[in-house]
Amino acid sequence: MSERPARLGVGVVGAGRVGAVLGHALREAGHAVVGASGVSRESRDRAADLLPGVPLLEVEQVVERAELVLLTVPDDELPGLVDGLARLGRFHEGQIVVHTAGRYGTGVLAPARAAGAIPLAVHPAMTFTGTRLDLARLAGAPFAVTAEEDAQPIAVALVVELGGEPVVVAEEARGRYHAALAHASNHLVTLVAQARGVLAGAGVEDPGTTLAPLAQAALDGALRAGDGALTGPVSRGDAGTVAEHVTVLGADGTEDDVLPTYRALAEATVRRAERSGRLRAQQADGLRSALAGHPVRGATTSPRLVTTVADLRAALTPRRRAVVMTMGALHDGHLALVRRAAQLADEVVVTIFVNPLQFGPQEDLDRYPRTLQADLERLTSTGVVDLVFAPAADEVYPEGEPRVRVQAGPMGQVLEGVVRPGHFDGVLTVVLKLLHLTRPDVAVFGQKDAQQLALIRRMVADLDLDVEIVAVPTVREPDGLALSSRNAYLAPHEREAALVLSRALQAGSAAAADGPDAVLAAAQRVLDGADPVVVPDYLVLVDPTTLEPAPADQPTRATMLAVAARVGATRLIDNAVIDYPGD
Ligand code: PAJ
Repeated sequence: MSERPARLGVGVVGAGRVGAVLGHALREAGHAVVGASGVSRESRDRAADLLPGVPLLEVEQVVERAELVLLTVPDDELPGLVDGLARLGRFHEGQIVVHTAGRYGTGVLAPARAAGAIPLAVHPAMTFTGTRLDLARLAGAPFAVTAEEDAQPIAVALVVELGGEPVVVAEEARGRYHAALAHASNHLVTLVAQARGVLAGAGVEDPGTTLAPLAQAALDGALRAGDGALTGPVSRGDAGTVAEHVTVLGADGTEDDVLPTYRALAEATVRRAERSGRLRAQQADGLRSALAGHPVRGATTSPRLVTTVADLRAALTPRRRAVVMTMGALHDGHLALVRRAAQLADEVVVTIFVNPLQFGPQEDLDRYPRTLQADLERLTSTGVVDLVFAPAADEVYPEGEPRVRVQAGPMGQVLEGVVRPGHFDGVLTVVLKLLHLTRPDVAVFGQKDAQQLALIRRMVADLDLDVEIVAVPTVREPDGLALSSRNAYLAPHEREAALVLSRALQAGSAAAADGPDAVLAAAQRVLDGADPVVVPDYLVLVDPTTLEPAPADQPTRATMLAVAARVGATRLIDNAVIDYPGD
């Protein structure tokens, strides 16, 4: 830090707001500004004010004369400028070349370095007005400093001379550094401008003044304590208020960018509050439901729980009814089904029943997670469930395993049916029973279990059942893993390795333009690179309704890429519908 650069001849390339101010500050620090370049009228006026007596020259001359070149051109122009100057041979040995572009490290100065110059990236993290006002604000302003190790003291000393506070940022971290600053400072402007607009629309005369105390306190708090500064309805889990906000912001008279922004930021706020333990899972679910625009039917009223067939029959009303069948251990995938059900009907019934009939002798029937209390809380949080039917096994099968069952037939013997013989007979038998018991107008199932969905549709068609089947797309973790109650079995490294399934599907989907063979090959390549803890079972392209292999010669038909693997001791499945371009 004590290394003070000698008095240097400084050249300012791009005497805009930043260049003129920094040039002036360097001059005050005892350096000589030997030339400046600037094309616009404003640049020249600024140079006259802040750099009086400094000759205005062509860029190349400025660079040739200077021992320290300050490149303060717009970010986009920097790479081209450096290349051009290097090609013309204008940089020289020992010359210090500094740029002030936030998004670049010293890599962009490689051509100057090749000519023997010392590249430095020094970014003042403040806004410039291009006037003398900036000079005072330089004092104590943070400056990101990126330089090779031996050049770092020079960069640090320069910043100190300018009055700034050096903050060392690694070359490879510059992108993130710059994104963070832009996100906070630029997007804050959008956010506040939106809030001003909404207030103006509400008839508030001076929106800025009205916002100031709260907005300033929030900013100060967040700068000091991060997420800890959060207050307001999301932090309280107040889904009713959030639902109200969504409604009013969606109404006419509010600019149409406000609601999506509110939703995106509220969702991020919920996620962060949940992750830090500030919100419980069911509060977070309630907030998400409200954000999705679903009615919050008194988020505190629990659905009615019935466990017997008699109570169920007595509780059903003549309203239009939707049923969601589950085996419990509810996650956001199940809740997505519940929310869809609420859109489709006036009464929502959820069944929770771990059906012994669909488990093979070696399977996880005893081990399957049973979390009724938590499930009820999660269902309560959606605010849309009227009735939960959670019977014991002997209520559903009073005489033990039924002698008459539904036979899934050939569609139940492929894919999952190969390793789980009889599984789909067990599924269809219980689904049929539960349809009879709950008598819904519509039943909602997840695309996640695509073979099950196809078989249920087939059963409804083949046996003339009077119910509409609605499918909901697979809900995934942010990293792509399809939500499944069985994910709870995965050890951390298995959880990581399991991502290969969704990645394979993504790679397959991305190759759709090149046809079915390419889809399979791309997905297979990803699977081939899987961690050894993953033992793939199948990867196939099938017709999503018949489950028959997709004909390779008809690439225009929608097909489904289905994958199954054992990850450690846990069997996982996933699928993606492949839309061929031009479908
Ligand atoms: P279960 O595995 O609990 O799943 C219940 C419903 O949730 C199914 O329709 C399933 O496809 C759906 N689901 C599971 N994970 C999902 C996800 N990540 N995204 C969207 N939907 C998802 O499937 C069963 O139970 C049983 O076989 C059942 C149909 C209840 C019969 O016993």
